[in-house]
Amino acid sequence: MDFVNNLFFGYLPYIAVAVFFVGVIYHCIVSDKTIHATSTIFLKKDGLMKWGSPMFHFGIIIVFFGHLFGLFTPMFIVEWFMPLETKRILAIIIGLAAAAVALAGLLMLLVRRFSSTRVAKTSSFQDYFIVILILVQICLGISSTIITTRSSLADYLAFDEWAQGMVWFQPDAWKYILESNIVYKLHIVNGLFIFMIFPYTKLMHMIRLPLRYPLERNKIFPSDPQSTKI
Ligand code: HEM
Repeated sequence: MDFVNNLFFGYLPYIAVAVFFVGVIYHCIVSDKTIHATSTIFLKKDGLMKWGSPMFHFGIIIVFFGHLFGLFTPMFIVEWFMPLETKRILAIIIGLAAAAVALAGLLMLLVRRFSSTRVAKTSSFQDYFIVILILVQICLGISSTIITTRSSLADYLAFDEWAQGMVWFQPDAWKYILESNIVYKLHIVNGLFIFMIFPYTKLMHMIRLPLRYPLERNKIFPSDPQSTKI
């Protein structure tokens, strides 16, 4: 069992980060514009889209920054601002609230994708696959946080020690979470899998959209009012 834990929580994070960056760089620079988040809003404009999309995006952005600050802020810095127990309570409350909003939004988008024949006809296997993966990931994340409500502070902090140990290339960092509940472990492995396939899916729009103008400033965009003036 040690071998599996070492592989998934000692090596896989580095492999995932490498695959992620190589894929992102390849798609941004080499393969130019092979990935799009195909918009279906013009096919069916309804309440499910109107509410589902902002709710999902708002919730998932809060969860993202929660993971970033929660897992990677060194404990002595956290302790300048609050006791570690307070951090745990804040993570539970804010994390669960944001996750509930993201989950509700994602379910609305899923209902829309399955219920509208026009939207379903333009959806590829990849559209369903990535959305289902994210749905599973959010459910595993919520289950993990519910487990945290009943676990000790040390069990909760083990994930921060593991994540920061990985950053500092501590070879035994995986041992911090050796005894953790399987639900957390499934959440992490599924999360790393999402990272690895990220550059090859429509999730790339998260990176491409903010970089659109700096990277592609010489192109003319039909949606850009400036370009129609030329
Ligand atoms: C692969 C890297 C990831 C790691 C190491 C990780 C770790 C964790 C941990 C330890 C928790 C429990 C937090 C607590 O007890 O308060 C959690 C919760 C959660 N995770 Fe992740 N996660 C990862 C990726 C993701 C991804 C990619 C998503 C979304 C697509 C996600 C969504 C969530 C959600 C919704 C929760 C519950 C709410 C919250 O605490 O923020 N996680 N994650």
